[in-house]
Amino acid sequence: MSQEVKIKVDYFNVAILTVSDSRSEGRGMDESGDFLKQAFLKAGYNIKSRDIVADDIDVIAGLLRSYADREGIDLVVTTGGTGFSPRDVTPEATLKVLHRSFPGISEILRMQGMEKTPFAILSRGVSGIRYKTIIINLPGSLKAVREGFEVLEPVIMHAIKKLNGDKGQCGEVIP
Ligand code: MTE
Repeated sequence: MSQEVKIKVDYFNVAILTVSDSRSEGRGMDESGDFLKQAFLKAGYNIKSRDIVADDIDVIAGLLRSYADREGIDLVVTTGGTGFSPRDVTPEATLKVLHRSFPGISEILRMQGMEKTPFAILSRGVSGIRYKTIIINLPGSLKAVREGFEVLEPVIMHAIKKLNGDKGQCGEVIP
């Protein structure tokens, strides 16, 4: 990543939220959260928050609201809790707080994921906007967040700029 790109994205604040009963109880390493932190840092973003919570709809929704309404976070990436297990409620918590949807990113995450595993369709992750904050759900596995980051990275800076009123011509931007 060149210094020029780092300077451009340095002002953007990212929150990483790991949703997992076991990780929140200290069982096992949060490899997916660790990967996302390193990947966003390497891409030049500022990691403003990093949290691990249990699969609890009110706790997840409360944190998402706090990131968007109080902490000035530009992008929240959640990992985990998007599947079919009875306790998987990250999409429901996210839908509770979104003002506008950002369906394309979740569609492409599933589509690109399907090239690696047919189980990608089992992620019910959603994405959208609350005030000036973009929220994106990724699945919980390290493999899935690695694959997901590859999808997000080329478009996310442009999305944040647009959300903040950038009037530049999209057609002139080469990701
Ligand atoms: N997407 C990608 N790109 N790669 C993966 O390995 N795993 C899938 C899916 N999405 C996967 C993926 C699997 S196995 C599940 S069960 C769902 O994400 C939900 O995962 P979660 O409950 O940990 O969020």
